[in-house]
Amino acid sequence: MKTFDPILLKNMQQPGYTGSLAEYERAGGYQALKQVLAGVPPDDVIDLVKKSGLRGRGGAGFPTGVKWGFIPKDHPGPKYLCCNADESEPGTFKDRQLMERDPHQVLEGIAIACYAIGAQTAYIYIRGEFRLGAKILERAIAEAREAGHVGADVYGSGVTIQIYVHAGAGAYICGEETALLESLEGKRGKPRTKPPFPATHGLYQKPTVVNNVETLANVPHIVKRGSDWFASIGSPPKSTGTRIFCLSGHVCRPGNYELPVNATFRDLIYELGGGMRSDKPLKAFIPGGASAPFLTPDHVDVQLDFESVALAGSMSGSGGVTAMEEGTSMVWAALRLMEFFYHESCGKCTPCREGSAWIVQILQRIQNKQGRREDLGTLTDVCGNIGGRTVCAFGDAEIAPVLSTLKYWRHEYEALIEEAETLNAGRKAKDIPVLSVS
Ligand SMILES: Cc1cc2nc3c(=O)[nH]c(=O)nc-3n(C[C@H](O)[C@H](O)[C@H](O)COP(=O)(O)O)c2cc1C
Repeated sequence: MKTFDPILLKNMQQPGYTGSLAEYERAGGYQALKQVLAGVPPDDVIDLVKKSGLRGRGGAGFPTGVKWGFIPKDHPGPKYLCCNADESEPGTFKDRQLMERDPHQVLEGIAIACYAIGAQTAYIYIRGEFRLGAKILERAIAEAREAGHVGADVYGSGVTIQIYVHAGAGAYICGEETALLESLEGKRGKPRTKPPFPATHGLYQKPTVVNNVETLANVPHIVKRGSDWFASIGSPPKSTGTRIFCLSGHVCRPGNYELPVNATFRDLIYELGGGMRSDKPLKAFIPGGASAPFLTPDHVDVQLDFESVALAGSMSGSGGVTAMEEGTSMVWAALRLMEFFYHESCGKCTPCREGSAWIVQILQRIQNKQGRREDLGTLTDVCGNIGGRTVCAFGDAEIAPVLSTLKYWRHEYEALIEEAETLNAGRKAKDIPVLSVS
């Protein structure tokens, strides 16, 4: 792999860098904001981001400039920017590092985005457990306000940008953008039916952009170095720039690694992550957070960009890559993930609420050697009745571990069911213990 100069993690990799305002300014921080507020029209900022090819780093990969362009320009009332810092996707921990180690980079991105869409108010919706991150952001906002980078009449431009931190209360679903908006409004975090979309009916039914932390952190660099520079990195024209990949699991060196998106899973897992932690080879990996279907060692040479991972049958999602070694039970892995989804289902949609409980029960039964041959058909059937049948993408996410493990490791399910048949041979149905989801 070619050596690469990081963009987003660059400052924090300098020895002794603490993320203070003075250090961020010394590294060229807030120059991009000054540049746009000195007279670049908001539409030009949107065009710049469109041309850069930046796509959302929160999971869906929606083009950021296009999203900003959906905000109605003639709307008379307030507009909002929400920075999605919920980061609850298992295996994903990059936003936390960006906020804790270089908070002003995120704040500058937020301020430029506010200017581009005409929002005077931004909320950072941060995962409740990120107490340290929230404290660091609060401190950074106070510093930025004191220095005149945010607040009323920034740099005498007449532009007002106020940024507030709002802590969630520990629900995975509040990372889904419309559930996030409900939660921010003080309601239960349940996804809204779309349309209408947040671009026209978002926070308090006002035009709103929701962007991920990493997405916004890219913006000052695009302004400073230009859209052509950004668009030349990665796998243009569709997947540009770098991404921070969160490597976890059975590898020697887990952690956050920033890479151009044309690098491969082999580069990430073996070169940067040091390969597997023991002499057991790689068996499986999740390429984009718990919601992404599993891939196999045959896929390690796939590029990390959105299109390549989709072509391989999965999604690059939130950038969380979890590697598992030979010997890991894939039925167990699917069950662990499914228990998470069952616990986190908000309950709004029946297929997700009921289906997740059914799937957990069936997986527990198989894992505990009480499975039946017809269970595999039932699993596929229940998953088929969840995917595409819920208000938000949670439904599609939760069936990914089950369907992908059934696709690649069906023999492991069958082996456990065969063991169950041998164990239970001669037992009457009433004597086989029944499991229930607690
Ligand atoms: C169940 C669920 C959970 C999500 N959690 C997060 C999250 O924690 N952080 C995030 O940025 N996006 C999350 N998303 C994606 C958001 O809905 C939204 O697409 C994203 O914040 C948009 O920002 P982006 O365009 O910058 O990626 C989640 C989506 C779903 C369906």
